[in-house]
Amino acid sequence: MPRTIFVTTALPYANGSFHLGHILEYIQADIWVRCQRMAGHTVYFVGADDAHGAPIMLKAESEGITPRELVARYASERPRYLASFHIGFDHWHSTDSPENIALSRAIYRQLKSAGFIARRTIEQFYDPIKGMFLPDRYIKGECPRCHAKDQYGDACENCGAVYAPTDLIGPYSTLTHTTPVLKSSEHFFFRLSDPRCVAFLREWTTGVNGQGEQHLQPEVQAKTREWLGRAADGDAHLDDWDISRDAPYFGIEIPDAPGKFFYVWLDAPVGYLASLQAYCEKAGLDFNHLIDPAGATEQVHFIGKDIVYFHALFWPAMLKFAGRKTPDGINVHGFVTVNGQKMSKSRGTGISPLRYLEIGMDAEWLRYYFAAKLNQHVEDVDFVATDFTTRINSDLVGKFVNIASRAASFITKHFDGELRYAGDTDALRATLSDTARSVQELFESRDYSRAVRRIMACADDINQAFDTAQPWVKAKGIRTADAAQKAALQDACSRALAGFKALTVMLAPVLPALSRRVAGELFGEGDSYCWADAAVLPAHIAPFKHLMQRVDPKLFDALFEKADAAGGADAAGTAASAPGGEAISATIQMDDFAKIDLRIAKIVDCSAVEGSDKLLRLSLDVNEGRPRQVFSGIKSAYSPQDLIGKLTVLVANLAPRKMRFGVSEGMVLAASHHDKQVDGGIYILEPWPGARPGMRIN
Ligand code: 2FM
Ligand code: ZN
Repeated sequence: MPRTIFVTTALPYANGSFHLGHILEYIQADIWVRCQRMAGHTVYFVGADDAHGAPIMLKAESEGITPRELVARYASERPRYLASFHIGFDHWHSTDSPENIALSRAIYRQLKSAGFIARRTIEQFYDPIKGMFLPDRYIKGECPRCHAKDQYGDACENCGAVYAPTDLIGPYSTLTHTTPVLKSSEHFFFRLSDPRCVAFLREWTTGVNGQGEQHLQPEVQAKTREWLGRAADGDAHLDDWDISRDAPYFGIEIPDAPGKFFYVWLDAPVGYLASLQAYCEKAGLDFNHLIDPAGATEQVHFIGKDIVYFHALFWPAMLKFAGRKTPDGINVHGFVTVNGQKMSKSRGTGISPLRYLEIGMDAEWLRYYFAAKLNQHVEDVDFVATDFTTRINSDLVGKFVNIASRAASFITKHFDGELRYAGDTDALRATLSDTARSVQELFESRDYSRAVRRIMACADDINQAFDTAQPWVKAKGIRTADAAQKAALQDACSRALAGFKALTVMLAPVLPALSRRVAGELFGEGDSYCWADAAVLPAHIAPFKHLMQRVDPKLFDALFEKADAAGGADAAGTAASAPGGEAISATIQMDDFAKIDLRIAKIVDCSAVEGSDKLLRLSLDVNEGRPRQVFSGIKSAYSPQDLIGKLTVLVANLAPRKMRFGVSEGMVLAASHHDKQVDGGIYILEPWPGARPGMRIN
């Protein structure tokens, strides 16, 4: 049954450029959208700038421009980033738009007439110099619990206490550094304390959508259960939500309440609908039909874990009690970390998406890397440069792209681009179709990492079949005009290329640009694939053209943002504390270290590897009753005779790696300076006398 799905990503505040976390979310959503479209479903995928609120107003003021000018500046950058990362939004809008103003007011009126809006006078800190009420983050003071100085108005970063700004000792306005005064004013509240709200949210947060999937991931559901109180607790209720702010405020004025504005979080999610509406107007679609609560459109939001409260409680409740369609799914992802820690310029681990593009890194590398790490859980996605390099160079280029470059050259050279399959192809088609179906299901359930593993396992199979067929041997037969050899060669290459095409189809949600090129330029089959194409065997290829560059690890030196001159002390500190030319890696726990099994190994044999100017082949005795083969990039530093008979250190439980020259069953350890200009040497480790092969190093 073809589905109609309305998909959004969280609306970014329009007072800053996109950061890597935004790009992660857009890539996650974009992959899902492409997967659905490839299945023939109709998807409306929209985003917008979140334009309102005090921080935007104050930032604009500090720059001497209007909030709208500030918003326009960031809005103008968006298309470049989105296009570069191949994020296929149908439309990008703004919450500061006529559609959003009208929709926000309409929803407010509906809530009001249903009895869900209350008015109450409250007292708040007011900065008389600035002439405005102060949001909590613009008030600082001493923590009432631990007495740490300069803590924000809502929570203490030192002891974790949560309090009201009025609890602070010696509160001051961060805008004027003066003492704020308490002033009362009338506010508007969404009456979430109404028992109908908890009752509805208990149902909605544990409910399933028309596809039989939970609205929320289990861990998100658990969080909402905490917030909503236990089911048995009949008195559980939510506090009313303050949805108004007093002028001066950059936002939407509340109907019949001059000088009162919607709090930015009231009109921000309405921006999802506003963007869809604007798109409908542009595309000639019936907006009201799409958002009809009785209609079949599915509404799916992708968000980060920091804004669950707004999306899993406030937003469904707002929609429900305004008599509107409620969301069908909220998909929550974690944050991007670098080496297991928050990105930090001072630690030299900041990554700006713009810099990523500017230094020439391929957007599809990042899409693939994120896909390989994302799953349906709320887990952080860790960016590790070595891991990134391996996944792109070994998996994507080494396993996937390589299939085409190897097989295509024979087909072009000996068969004029014609593919021909000897014998029955039913089994081949069935395998490709089954694999594609399982990959599609994994993408659909947002288990991208398993989808990618499944695809790479399939690539391994294709490579192995190709190697087993030994096409280079058969190609020799061609010169002696052996027809059977020739047919067998054509068959082996055709099957490899059919496999490559199927892999391209399966990777199309992740690598849209590459798959478009493969479809168009290599196979001449149009500009996009659907899932069913995976099992359609190609008949012809054009000469192979280079598809994807390998990652040069040097790029990371340019990628990571270091603290600039303004953070001079910090930068100098980093340099001084960078032994061996690189900062000490993120702290790990004993458990992490215990996973690495280091053993004493005796180098019983060693030889150069033909065709490689870097590698030595080591044969290592770890007292396992058989020697292990390990390839090591130490040829520039040692000759085989230097090493034979010596003891060294082996990472004994590293997953075996298939290399061009054979399988490497571990890794020997060696020291080197990060900066080859300082010291280009490689120094392998040798234990003190007495150590024997097989001993564990702890
Ligand atoms: O946290 C944020 O960046 C908000 N601007 C997200 C808003 S999402 C939606 F509600 F618009
Ligand atoms: Zn404290």
